[in-house]
Amino acid sequence: MLDDRDNNIDTDKLSADVRAHIERELKGYAHNIHDEISGGISGVIIQLENIKRTLARVGDEKTVSDINLVILSATETLEASRRIANKLRPSLLDHFGLAAAIDQMLKDFQIRYGVNTSLVIEPNALISKNDKQKLSERQCLEVFRIAQEVLNNIIKHANAHHVDCEINGELEHVIFTFKDDGCGIGWDAVQGVGIGGIKIRALSAHGSVSITPLCPCGTMVKLKVKVLNNDAHRQEG
Ligand SMILES: Nc1ncnc2c1ncn2[C@@H]1O[C@H](COP(=O)(O)OP(=O)(O)O)[C@@H](O)[C@H]1O
Ligand SMILES: [Mg+2]
Repeated sequence: MLDDRDNNIDTDKLSADVRAHIERELKGYAHNIHDEISGGISGVIIQLENIKRTLARVGDEKTVSDINLVILSATETLEASRRIANKLRPSLLDHFGLAAAIDQMLKDFQIRYGVNTSLVIEPNALISKNDKQKLSERQCLEVFRIAQEVLNNIIKHANAHHVDCEINGELEHVIFTFKDDGCGIGWDAVQGVGIGGIKIRALSAHGSVSITPLCPCGTMVKLKVKVLNNDAHRQEG
């Protein structure tokens, strides 16, 4: 099946440096969308609310209801820009860590596509005994991007009703499991850019990944990421 052993990955093509550069660019775009676009739309909504209150006082019901429609569409645009910024660079990942970012991603996915999602995190799966994050910033970002592609594939190919995610901890590894109950990946599935990217990112996160069909239906993506020792952790940044 499509596991990480059966493929010659051209790591030169998409080197870690290039990916780090892309991530920095994406972070910049996300901040611009957040500050300039979302900030601007929020300002417009506040002004419209003020105008609406003034018009309501003079009893102009018709214009008030027209303004309500404009506010509704501005609010939807605000929500869309929040979603786009979040996909580019989830602020939750920077501020609250990988578990919070995956949790939010699954909740957004459920709302957007109507596919039920669940997340079970084993206690201490991501936090070591001395209260340190087990995975480096780079590992967290790679896992997050892998999770995004897993969900993309589920919506594109699986026709699933449920997605269950588990995060488990072993002494030297953190294991991320995504199961959907869709049509199941075929044994003859042709690897595209998505799964190719998943494999490259898994390697870059000091991990391995397997993607297998489930019985009686669905697909399981299992990602096993190595917990680095303190020195390697610091170097990773
Ligand atoms: N969750 C899934 N359920 C069913 N099939 C899948 C799933 N994920 C991936 N696949 C299959 O694996 C193929 C390769 O996926 P990918 O490399 O992401 O390329 P792409 O999504 O562009 O087709 C898909 O075309 C599809 O046939
Ligand atoms: Mg894909």
